[in-house]
Amino acid sequence: MKLSILIARFSYVWATQSLAYSVHGHHQDAGSVHGPSSDGSDAGQVAPRSSLLRPRQDFDTRAAAKAAIDALNNKFYSSTQAIWSPGDPWWLSGVALASVIDYMRKTGSSDYLDQVHDIIQVQRTQYAESGGDFRGQSTDDTGWWALAMIRMYDLTGNDTYLNISVEDEAHMYKSWTSSPCGGGIYVDVEAKTYKNAIANELYIKLAASLHNRIANDTEYLSRAETAWWWFQESGMIRNDSLINDGLASNSDGICYNNKLPVWTYNQGVILGALVELYQATASDTYLTAAYTIADAVLSSQTSPQLSKDGILTEGSCEPDEANGCNHDQQVFKGVFAYNLDELHNATPDGSEDHPYRSYLQQNAQSAYAYARGKATDLYDVSWVGPFQNSTIGKQASAVGLLVAAI
Ligand SMILES: *[C@@H]1O[C@H](CO)[C@@H](O)[C@H](O)[C@H]1NC(C)=O
Ligand SMILES: *[C@@H]1O[C@H](CO)[C@@H](O)[C@H](O)[C@H]1NC(C)=O
Ligand SMILES: *[C@@H]1O[C@H](CO)[C@@H](O)[C@H](O)[C@H]1NC(C)=O
Ligand SMILES: *[C@@H]1O[C@H](CO)[C@@H](O)[C@H](O)[C@H]1NC(C)=O
Ligand SMILES: *[C@@H]1O[C@H](CO)[C@@H](O)[C@H](O)[C@H]1NC(C)=O
Repeated sequence: MKLSILIARFSYVWATQSLAYSVHGHHQDAGSVHGPSSDGSDAGQVAPRSSLLRPRQDFDTRAAAKAAIDALNNKFYSSTQAIWSPGDPWWLSGVALASVIDYMRKTGSSDYLDQVHDIIQVQRTQYAESGGDFRGQSTDDTGWWALAMIRMYDLTGNDTYLNISVEDEAHMYKSWTSSPCGGGIYVDVEAKTYKNAIANELYIKLAASLHNRIANDTEYLSRAETAWWWFQESGMIRNDSLINDGLASNSDGICYNNKLPVWTYNQGVILGALVELYQATASDTYLTAAYTIADAVLSSQTSPQLSKDGILTEGSCEPDEANGCNHDQQVFKGVFAYNLDELHNATPDGSEDHPYRSYLQQNAQSAYAYARGKATDLYDVSWVGPFQNSTIGKQASAVGLLVAAI
């Protein structure tokens, strides 16, 4: 679908919402979106349909983000193991770490610096058999932690973090093979059975990020561009510009879209990757590709619906009341949100065709009003509510969104 059509469709949805707000806006409890509730109740409430919030100017996103990080720590952090929710998948802490670092980068606060330092010192000793420094058995796990190290380098200027991410790129690149599929990184380091979207998106973002931070580099840029050109033609991107989970291959090494779900994080990391490529090259083609994917998400109405009445939705699991999203899937939307913020920040001023900032703020305000346990500042998975309970994935997702909206 052409970009102009996507924008036209999206603008229509946007206009409808604004109208809905002006008609039904008086039903909103203004107090619930910019200050803590005093009733202490965590009773779940769902956003009224078609009366979602228009971004408010006085919503204190920074305070909401800080409260969510503090709740993440109170509820899930193990100081003895220096990780959140030790029983849950390791990569979720890598995602949470990146957002906590981003909170400090955006606000100038150093509130979590000691904690972040502890997490890195302890977690980099995992996988000692492959030399540690996040070089694990899954290239995507390595990618999440490596990108957190890039952010930590940006925050502190300390070479140690950049050097860890250099080692991580080398580790991931060892899983690139030209056959099958004509290229691509395997997600599983030992078994080498699956070339999927997430491992490759993280790789492109990491390699391009290294180029942008290492003087006179040509090799990382070349790898990142080669990986993107391959990705673009790999078959993982559907004809509506949404990205499926990964590739399957024939016995002759020809690969094709495996039709596994369209997850929001696979629409997200590629945005951040394309922003780094744009910064590396100043070539608009990368931004244009990113807009096409982002706009496909914001205007998505079917199979799966990723944005419903202007609120990001994990369409392949979130509407399923019986099974719902698993602990990994619960964090995906937050990843999309902070990568969309990176695209927003790379977009030249005055570009009204790309209202990503209002989208993020609208989502943040909906999550704050409806997905949050008001006594605890914990968040549930659906950003239109109700709140019932939280997990590391749900909470890290909300932190990703709230920090993105600052
Ligand atoms: C850089 O970070 C490393 C790892 O956290 C730390 O050991 C080292 O002291 C830091 N260096 C400086 C100059 O702060
Ligand atoms: C990081 O790597 C560079 C290049 O190899 C090296 O010069 C520098 O000393 C390293 N820094 C640290 C803190 O290990
Ligand atoms: C990068 O290249 C420039 C020009 O050739 C050179 O002056 C500079 O020292 C190089 N920097 C590094 C870190 O290699
Ligand atoms: C896009 O893909 C769908 C599902 O595979 C197919 O039904 C449809 O015809 C395709 N549309 C175009 C324009 O190729
Ligand atoms: C959390 O709430 C969901 C319903 O949204 C329920 O299925 C699940 O069992 C609850 N988990 C816990 C640990 O209470």
